[in-house]
Amino acid sequence: MARIADFDTPDTEAGRRMYRDGILPSGEPLTAIVAGDVPVLGTQFSCQSCHGRSGMGASEGAYIVPPIAGQFLFAPSPQPARPAYTEASLAHLLREGVTAGGRDLSELMPLYDIGDEGVASITAYLAGLSSKSSPGVDDKVIRFATVITDDVTAQTRDAVLAVLDAFVRDKNKNTRLESERWDRGSTPSSRLHTVHRAWDLEVWELTGPSGTWAGQLEQRYASEPVFALLSGLSNQSWAPVSEFCERNEIPCLFPGTDFAEPDDGDFYTFYYSEGLVLEAGLIAEHLSNQPVEKVVQVYCGPGLPAAVAELRVLMESNGFSVDDYMLDCNDLPSMRFEEETGTTDRSALVVWLEQEELLGLSEQLSGRRVYFSSTLLTGELEAPILSVPDQAFVAHPFRLPDQIDPAFARFNVWARTRGIKLTAPRLQSEAFFACLALKDVVAHMGRFFIRDYVIDMLDHKQSLVAYLPYYPRPTLGPGQRFVNKGGYVLPILNGHPNTSGAGWIVP
Ligand code: HEC
Repeated sequence: MARIADFDTPDTEAGRRMYRDGILPSGEPLTAIVAGDVPVLGTQFSCQSCHGRSGMGASEGAYIVPPIAGQFLFAPSPQPARPAYTEASLAHLLREGVTAGGRDLSELMPLYDIGDEGVASITAYLAGLSSKSSPGVDDKVIRFATVITDDVTAQTRDAVLAVLDAFVRDKNKNTRLESERWDRGSTPSSRLHTVHRAWDLEVWELTGPSGTWAGQLEQRYASEPVFALLSGLSNQSWAPVSEFCERNEIPCLFPGTDFAEPDDGDFYTFYYSEGLVLEAGLIAEHLSNQPVEKVVQVYCGPGLPAAVAELRVLMESNGFSVDDYMLDCNDLPSMRFEEETGTTDRSALVVWLEQEELLGLSEQLSGRRVYFSSTLLTGELEAPILSVPDQAFVAHPFRLPDQIDPAFARFNVWARTRGIKLTAPRLQSEAFFACLALKDVVAHMGRFFIRDYVIDMLDHKQSLVAYLPYYPRPTLGPGQRFVNKGGYVLPILNGHPNTSGAGWIVP
């Protein structure tokens, strides 16, 4: 097999740009020909878009994209039979569509107008791509961490950790059994360690202001790297954690956050939902055909500014005027909405507050057009919200309270048989889903402990969403990072949401 040193172009950075973004060393986009004669820009047809960032290939039904990472490409392949690629035969393939085995490639793969310099760069890049295991794995153990910030209550933290601990314990017990089975069989024991590894889950607790989290994360990571982050909890913006994951190229699977605030093009974090920002989108949709001129938002707490800003931008772009009031969470009952916010009967009040924070405010809210956040009211919508008479609504990006939830029912049985009390059912069942997703991709990784491969696999794991509780229409697909994309806006009658005729909204 050819080694990286056999390919003499050091410019793997240029190769990476071609592979991931479809940009040539000159800075121009690659040109590609699809379906025989249709010219397109390589930026829409980067190698990554089909072969995955890891180059480990992908399959969706009958559509199979072969692995092209160096260890596969520059080695002979038995099926379909072909010799190892060389720089010359790769050039021939990219330009003419003929494989190293002399077979005409199917038209699914584009042809590229690519010079010798470009071929040299892509060759060098592919030679090194996914060539060694990612950090956080050794012969016996694969290490993960769950990030929890100190604004999370001890009760919620313990409830979620009970799920994660029990899952990892079960997983390791089964791994031991599988390993013993391998030992008893005819398989040489050296292969045993190439597949089955015990999971080690550390809890990374972050303390203090979120501006200091990056430093704390880097320190934990430097002292002992982990392969991926699993689950997690915070009541503040998740952005510092997702930035850490982008910087170090670490998969971060399904943190329990209602404050996902990824940057455009972020790759490594998968979220359940955009949380409060999604609710802002739902409320904006609903408000756009109400007899309202002005929107007044009130909020308190550190996680909310992104949702407040989102609603403001959406409403202002539709010509509404918007006022925001950040309240003192400890002094809410003394708030006088009318005098202090200048609301009128032509305005809508968006109340970004939790159930307990609302106590004492109901009289002031009565008779107004009010919107609540179901996430902040804990999402269950079982307890009466408030005795608001009419014109009250709740944004609800979850399953309706009266819809059955088979994934949750399954989790419930699992938890009960392990003696786990459900004190934070949504976060606990979500954490369980994160574990299932991780277990599934780790099983399919085989002996290739490549982080980017984890992400590439999740991009093609629509089948997993059948196990996701709480969300009625989850989807996973290439490039999607939010499993839930919509929700409801439900009228409140006598303190309870009215679900009849509820329509699903995707903002
Ligand atoms: C639109 C999807 C798509 C894009 C974009 C794409 N490929 Fe492919 N590629 C395929 C498919 C599908 C095959 C398998 C076709 C077949 O076997 O007939 C393939 C086959 C290959 C093969 C042959 C592997 C073998 O074992 O013979 C190589 C090498 C390859 N691609 C490299 C690249 C490179 C490098 C790029 C970017 C410059 C790229 N591909 C972009 C879909 C794509």
